[in-house]
Amino acid sequence: MIVALILLGIAIVAATIYVQVKKRKILKLIGPLEHFPQWPIIGGVQNFMGKDVAGITATIDHLLTSVKLPAYTWVGPLKLIMVLDDPEDVEILLSDPAALYKPYVYKFFKNDRGLITSEPHIWKTHRKILSPSFSINVMKHLLPMFNTKINRMINNMKQLDDGVDVNLLDHLYMCTLDMISASATDVDIDLHDGKNCEYVQAVIAGADLVATRIINVPYHIEWIYRLSKLYEVEKRSLKAVNEFLDRVIKLKRTMFDEVADAEEERREELAKLNNEEIETKPKIIINQLFRYWTRGKIEFQDVRDELDVMIYTGSDTSTHLTSYTLLMLAIHPEIQQKVVEELQSVFVDETVPFDYDSVKQLTYLEMVIKETLRLYPVIPYIAREVKNDVKLRSFTVPSGTIIAVPIRHMNRNPVAFGPNPDLFNPDNFLPERVAKRHPYQYMPFSCGPRNCIGMTYALYSVKAIVAMMMMNFRISTRLKFKDIKVVYNITLRITNENLVNLKPREDFFKNQ
Ligand code: HEM
Repeated sequence: MIVALILLGIAIVAATIYVQVKKRKILKLIGPLEHFPQWPIIGGVQNFMGKDVAGITATIDHLLTSVKLPAYTWVGPLKLIMVLDDPEDVEILLSDPAALYKPYVYKFFKNDRGLITSEPHIWKTHRKILSPSFSINVMKHLLPMFNTKINRMINNMKQLDDGVDVNLLDHLYMCTLDMISASATDVDIDLHDGKNCEYVQAVIAGADLVATRIINVPYHIEWIYRLSKLYEVEKRSLKAVNEFLDRVIKLKRTMFDEVADAEEERREELAKLNNEEIETKPKIIINQLFRYWTRGKIEFQDVRDELDVMIYTGSDTSTHLTSYTLLMLAIHPEIQQKVVEELQSVFVDETVPFDYDSVKQLTYLEMVIKETLRLYPVIPYIAREVKNDVKLRSFTVPSGTIIAVPIRHMNRNPVAFGPNPDLFNPDNFLPERVAKRHPYQYMPFSCGPRNCIGMTYALYSVKAIVAMMMMNFRISTRLKFKDIKVVYNITLRITNENLVNLKPREDFFKNQ
């Protein structure tokens, strides 16, 4: 017994010395930076203990404004987390190959092979395969389909009783999910009228599930998590999503013509070699994945995980950005009027097609969307785990550190966005103002090699929905700008009920 106690004592002393020596080495690299409030052993975790998502959001906002950034904290005895908001340092960091890795919490998405979470060696191949699916050529191909889906949503809205408040999210989720499912798979899946209802519910549940797991630290331990009810919900959701995707993959596989695809690829290669411009088929996500799957370059699981990522990220983010933009227009009627005037200057009569070229001309609407993303960035922060030391301008980020970039906090910097950065002002995105800012100051789609692959898709799809909504409805709300509350639930959520009032805009073309 005494021997055991002595051995235990020696082990504790040795572990303490090891931790202290290691910590000293790490602190030497980062130099005299400030740290967030922290306790011995558990470090900064204590700031968040026992809090719900609203409490965690308030704590994050408080910490980011009360401590000078960059700053750090320990999580447990040896894991260092740093928060970095200087755009020049963020640029160096995100451009470094050591920062292509995501922290362990991304594993909670249970999607190891998809772009968002995968290890760099998988990610590099997949990014190359999927990048052509987000080209302008593909966007041009998709816009008529967007138009059909948006019209269907608008017609459903027109059936609602006059004067009732509408929860935009209900309608937008169905529409964006319909759009991205068709964009990714080239199949008109038709999610309306209760069809594929289990799949829709599973996609919507997915995001909240992961967010709940992240804020419940004991659930980070897999065996504890597996005892929870959440795990049961996760299993059911994953089953519904996988069954749905397997059905689509099976259907599309029978339609994929490998010989014709190889011929198309040869034609493209030849044209590239000869520096010739030729018309090529739009590179739809599922076809790109099939091209490499049928040649044995990627596995079935890669196809399924990538489709899952695209459909989840493509619907959740766009739904919230569209609804927040419409809410801003409802709250600011004078800005709504400017958007309508711009639309009337482009769509001078009913013969002007609603296509890529006309949507591209809506530059003021784009400023409105960007300003909405500044105040309400759907992804409020991103994180990386560096696998080597990374030298920044005045200190070094030690290998193994988790770095968080607080996008929302950077978007409210008064030096970059003027003395009233909390107000809604689309003029922040006038070209001359944008030119004065560091490109990494405003990065709602992240920056660097692992930035958002769907940025153009997101901007075009949101622009198309908002434009068509404005052409069809006058939109108002009782909600006041100052009363808006948000939480960080992985994605940023406005927690006020997103209720707006829609009145048909019958004079859109008549007044011109
Ligand atoms: C409002 C719209 C959107 C916003 C604000 C947004 C934002 C972001 C951000 C900040 C990241 C970096 C995440 C990280 O580093 O952890 C990201 C990555 C990603 N986004 Fe988006 N996104 C949006 C829409 C979309 C859409 C529509 C799609 C697909 C159609 C998409 C697909 C992806 C993918 C696949 C990645 C991972 C990229 C990679 O690691 O190579 N996103 N997005």
